[in-house]
Amino acid sequence: MIKVLDKNRDKKDLYEAYKLEERNKYRQFYHVHPISGLLNDPNGFCYYNGYWYLFYQWHPFGPFHGQKHWYMTRSKDLIEFENMGVGLVPEEIFENRGAYSGSGLEIDGKLNVFYTGNFRDNNDIRRPKQVRAVLGEDGKIGHKKVIIGTNKDFTEHQRDPSIYYNPLDKTYYIFLGAQDMDKGSIILYRSKDLDAWEYRGKIKIKGYKDFGYMWECPSFAKVDGKDLLIFSPQGLGDGKNSNRDLNGYLIGKMDFENVEFVVEEDFKRLDHGFEFYASMIGKSQEKTYLISWLGLPDVNLEKNGLSNSSLSLVRNLEIRDGRLYQRPQDFTEKIIESKKTTSNKLEVKSIKPMRILIENVMEDIKIDFFKDKNGSSPLILTYREESLLLERLDIIDRKNWEVRILELKVDKLEIFIDRSSVEIFVNDGGYTLSTRIFPEDEEESLEISSNDKVNIEYGFIGKIDTKFTL
Ligand code: FRU
Repeated sequence: MIKVLDKNRDKKDLYEAYKLEERNKYRQFYHVHPISGLLNDPNGFCYYNGYWYLFYQWHPFGPFHGQKHWYMTRSKDLIEFENMGVGLVPEEIFENRGAYSGSGLEIDGKLNVFYTGNFRDNNDIRRPKQVRAVLGEDGKIGHKKVIIGTNKDFTEHQRDPSIYYNPLDKTYYIFLGAQDMDKGSIILYRSKDLDAWEYRGKIKIKGYKDFGYMWECPSFAKVDGKDLLIFSPQGLGDGKNSNRDLNGYLIGKMDFENVEFVVEEDFKRLDHGFEFYASMIGKSQEKTYLISWLGLPDVNLEKNGLSNSSLSLVRNLEIRDGRLYQRPQDFTEKIIESKKTTSNKLEVKSIKPMRILIENVMEDIKIDFFKDKNGSSPLILTYREESLLLERLDIIDRKNWEVRILELKVDKLEIFIDRSSVEIFVNDGGYTLSTRIFPEDEEESLEISSNDKVNIEYGFIGKIDTKFTL
């Protein structure tokens, strides 16, 4: 029998796991991280009843991918997330191997979620179902109903429904990740009443017929008058100079009637660092945001039996000149001991969770993160001759250096450091690089050195509370 969460029975065990995690030196300080076990994709990110709701894929019972639940958080400012307890427990037969990823939307004053019931039959064959459910007054997602059965035209890989309401034809659409033979794709469904769903076909996207073996986690929105389609195509990178599984976007025009996404701007990566995946859009009337998993399907971040899994910061999305700009939230009010200097050298003896802003970058700048007494660091950012290089000592066994390179002119860097992650926003979010990093005890200082003087502002991030809530 596969174990699912029973609050009365499991509370003590999970609380103990949380206490262990609290002492974990790599536990994130101001990012969303699980109360126990493992977290992966963000789920159901949407605005509802005065709050941003954000769930995540959660395996409560240990730091590995197991029976997936959804854990629930919410936030007013998209910086501080309140732990609200388990949102979705996979208790029904159609989700007998977990409640997989999905999306959320406020409909008629209720938070509706759409997700994949990872169902396996008696012969252990996967037959995914797409489920609609509603968040009840008791803080639990219930009224679950299968709305889309397994589609026979595709392989068993059909998952991660993304809901979109199109005001033009007053119709709900679901974008669903699916595998066509051995190729990734997105298929489309529509409904007027949310109960009866009509299959409309595979979305035609010229030039992207053969683009990875599976597309996970689609997410669609209108941003600044353009249509934005985000997805995570698997198997495109070489795993060395880039991740094997990518995470990126297309800009264009969605033709719902003809089931075609007309591409105006080719596929671009959302992030150029090491771990960033399964991104999801959240939208209010005025603004569009993005959040991601700071992890990858084939990377195990577990250390000493602890999971170390984490979500990214929330990013504010804008489209300008055919590109996506991703900016962090304004952390000003969360920063303590803020300092400003204009210099070509800065050393911070003991790195703490912090934000750094460097302006007026000219040529030749180097940042050593987590430097030890002998002068070596496991993570280095260098900018020289219009190349930005992020080098990292690999996080699994620290044997090899990995590198990510961006060719561009840099004038501004905004950097967020947490206990085990660094997120770098270049030129107001025109490019970003995110990475996990697990510094050892003696690796504790930060050094910025540059040929010319640069303007540096830096400060530590005060504690953002999260508590154990089951
Ligand atoms: C992406 C993913 C999704 C799936 C979920 C399961 O990381 O594989 O496609 O729904 O994780 O946890």
